[in-house]
Amino acid sequence: MNGSTLSDPKYHELMLAAKAARANAYAPYSNFPVGAALLLEDGSVVTGCNVENASIGLTVCAERSAMCAAVAARTPKPVAAAVAGEEGRLCPPCGACRQFLYEFNPELLVVLEEGSDIVGYRLADLLPVGFPADKLDPCGN
Ligand code: THU
Repeated sequence: MNGSTLSDPKYHELMLAAKAARANAYAPYSNFPVGAALLLEDGSVVTGCNVENASIGLTVCAERSAMCAAVAARTPKPVAAAVAGEEGRLCPPCGACRQFLYEFNPELLVVLEEGSDIVGYRLADLLPVGFPADKLDPCGN
């Protein structure tokens, strides 16, 4: 599956925000810093980076770190998510992050760097049959 090339400067700016967040990554075990920037429904941008731990399985990816920041800021609906890993190389969100973001917007546009291009993928294409929030009825009705 190929992404579509995005020319709108707003996505390039979002990628720059992801790269700036990447500089704050705590990735001493993998040496693979990742930054993510979410463009939220209200036009604001929230960022995150990966945060690793000596107990390796506790690692939090950049995308989930950004999404948690968006929820904490009480503006949880993201419309686009830029992810920056290695410079110029595609860094697609892992399966866990796809599901985590799917909760908040299955139609989210995932913005990735591929060489000198910025490409977009619909989250629903990257995760065709995600587990939807409405499958759970918190009241048990
Ligand atoms: N990582 C992310 O933060 N996001 C991704 O989309 C892929 C992987 C992090 C997790 C770990 O800290 C490092 O990259 C290597 O897997």
